[in-house]
Amino acid sequence: MNDALILGIAGAPGTAQHHDSASLHVTGRAQFIDDIAEPPGLLHCKLVTSPHAHARIIGIDSTAALAVPGVAAVLTADDFPGANDIAPILKGEPCLAADVVDYAGQAVAIVAAETLAAAREAAKHVAVQYQPLAPVLSIEAALAAESYVAPPQIIVRGDADAALAAAPHRLKGRLRTGGQDHFYLEGQIATAMLRDDGGMHVLSSTQHPTEVQHGVSHVLNLPFAAVTVEVRRMGGAFGGKESQATQIAAMAALVAARTGRPAKLRLARDDDMIVTGKRHDFLINWDVGFDGEGRILGLDMRLAARAGNVADLSPAVMTRALCHVDNVYFLPAVRLRGYACKTNTVSNTAFRGFGGPQGMIGTEAMIEQIARHLALPVEAVRARNYYGAPPRATTPYGQEVEDNIIPLLSAKLEASAQLAERRAAIDRFNRASPVIRKGLATFAVKFGISFNIPTLNQAGALVHVYTDGSVHLNHGGTEMGQGLFVKVAQVVADVFQIDLGHVRVSATTTDKVPNTSATAASSGSDLNGMAAYNAAIDIRARMATVAAAQFGVPIESVTFSANRVYAGNRSLSFAELAKLAWQQRVSLSATGFYRTPNLSWDAKTMRGRPFYYFAYGIAASEVAIDTLTGEYRVLRTDIVHDCGRSLNPAIDRGQIEGGFVQGMGWLTMEELWWDAEGRLRTHAPSTYKIPGSRDIPADFRVHILEDSPNPEPTIFRSKAVGEPPLMLAISVWLALRDAVASLGDNRFPVALDAPATPERVLAAAADIRRHAASGGAALPSV
Ligand code: MTE
Ligand code: MOS
Repeated sequence: MNDALILGIAGAPGTAQHHDSASLHVTGRAQFIDDIAEPPGLLHCKLVTSPHAHARIIGIDSTAALAVPGVAAVLTADDFPGANDIAPILKGEPCLAADVVDYAGQAVAIVAAETLAAAREAAKHVAVQYQPLAPVLSIEAALAAESYVAPPQIIVRGDADAALAAAPHRLKGRLRTGGQDHFYLEGQIATAMLRDDGGMHVLSSTQHPTEVQHGVSHVLNLPFAAVTVEVRRMGGAFGGKESQATQIAAMAALVAARTGRPAKLRLARDDDMIVTGKRHDFLINWDVGFDGEGRILGLDMRLAARAGNVADLSPAVMTRALCHVDNVYFLPAVRLRGYACKTNTVSNTAFRGFGGPQGMIGTEAMIEQIARHLALPVEAVRARNYYGAPPRATTPYGQEVEDNIIPLLSAKLEASAQLAERRAAIDRFNRASPVIRKGLATFAVKFGISFNIPTLNQAGALVHVYTDGSVHLNHGGTEMGQGLFVKVAQVVADVFQIDLGHVRVSATTTDKVPNTSATAASSGSDLNGMAAYNAAIDIRARMATVAAAQFGVPIESVTFSANRVYAGNRSLSFAELAKLAWQQRVSLSATGFYRTPNLSWDAKTMRGRPFYYFAYGIAASEVAIDTLTGEYRVLRTDIVHDCGRSLNPAIDRGQIEGGFVQGMGWLTMEELWWDAEGRLRTHAPSTYKIPGSRDIPADFRVHILEDSPNPEPTIFRSKAVGEPPLMLAISVWLALRDAVASLGDNRFPVALDAPATPERVLAAAADIRRHAASGGAALPSV
């Protein structure tokens, strides 16, 4: 149909469309759970939390709290009709602490009152008696005590010991990376409403409505079918609402079940930061063997993460970390060990990248150390270790890297960012500048797309066409600002060839699309886009049959284009056809389902093909540091990112920019600080600094790789984009190290952990100056 080419539809996949709630977001009219009109009789909740990192609970006395006017209930672990357990993967993770508390901030009781002020006041009067116990706070202490939340995981390929012993060069090193608070603008929140049949309706700010449904049904001892969980949108999640929203919803539901009144639990910012988990901090140690050109021959690496008091998602985070140690590099003989350390600190959880960033950053520090040791340019050593043609194309876990586009991305970046010229200019600048030093570094990312557990890679959708031609779309994915809803709507609009404005997306609800996976692992649009596509294709086929009969033509001659349905030179509007189908009693509603093909994973041997494909990106960042204060600025960042055939370049650009800046926050300024008793002391924006608009690279050039359809048949050959760009911020961290290294003519290894706060940059600069002053003998390792 030529008309289709001429007219097209508004909002087709591949075109830049704004977020479906963009104007609501910027005008403040978008409704989040706390904005929804409160149901009559609503109770407001406040948590009573443990001041101790580890203690036995001797007794809880609620008498004084219950006497506060307006208080309706004080509930504890004894009040669950069902199991006091909200574990997402394993078992035995209490919703409210029972006999012991095992982190400072753990919820012990929940107070419900007519007003939030009354609940807060009463919470102060809940008298909990504790007998303090010795806490395990650090990764080192947990390693020494062999205290883990799950058995250690190990990936082995070849004989790492033999390769290390035979290697011409060998170095050991270590790196520590900090955690990160999600700092979503909307904190954790849920409202629970008891239904007349004893069921529970829950509004939850969650990435995983099905898991909230399961959690609520477990604690209340209800069948899944009696619990409905609904989420229209989240004000950001970033992984923090993948598992941890469940506890909040379960507590609100407990109050609703016990009191018979609707209940809302919204954590204030300080509580949110203290009570809920964050990105895992890691301690990474390596022992690497390499040849004279810096090619890695053997590697023994240990990743240790601070998991916190329970397993939560930590075992899965560790699996992803181990599967990303290789990043874009071929590691011939390896032993990679992962320890999820059990500590008396808050349970760490999913955070954009899900362990991937921590897995790959150690390898970068190691490659840099190798280059300094051999006095070779870091970039050259990186490139020498890149994945290549077989046999240099197999990951340590056995998956072939078949779609490697790093050489292409590298060449594009090299040209567009004029890296060689700028490198020379920076060297000149540094030679003449004793105080201000500049640094430049590139970093390439390869990120595996799919949940490591094949079962989770499935999705469902529900599509209705109404008789006026408007379309209702629902799917299992949740909207957290990442633009999933508009992308999936674009897919459906394209199938029906109608303008995007005719497709309405409704809140994600467990009673419309059941048994869903979390919207996570960046796979939201891959999975839900395909499920919605399948639903829409079914309806379109039925409508085409109606049109074929109407026009008296074979079904193959019916085409949908530009809001109309054609057969030869005759046509109907899409709405007219919808009405005709209804008159002829043809169903205009369908469910769609999708499962990602070709996935396998053996958790015992840690081998398989866990990822459907890889998403790639590359970045170069230039920084300037003040070596007398440690302060710095990011002067310029160039990114070339692979979105496959982007479904929506406007949304994808936002994800690249936002992910990158969030990654910068993790690696430069966001610092979580616990005191000696294990209490988090950075629990508000006054003490915890996330990037602001002035921290964005002054010159920020983001480029989406064009003509790069996904080799796998994903939805419109697009690629996932939610997490991978975060890791590109590693280029900033590497550039800071590069600037510091210039103080010792690049001869000494840089001792700079993450986050590279100004204090740490200053200390690292002083360290290099000391080495340079003391005769300049290069150190063997960090
Ligand atoms: N973007 C915004 N604006 N807000 C978010 O909370 N979460 C990130 C990413 N981008 C997030 C975001 C994370 S952790 C993931 S896994 C993906 O979005 C999830 O959505 P997707 O699978 O649809 O990309
Ligand atoms: Mo994202 S960390 O997979 O929610």
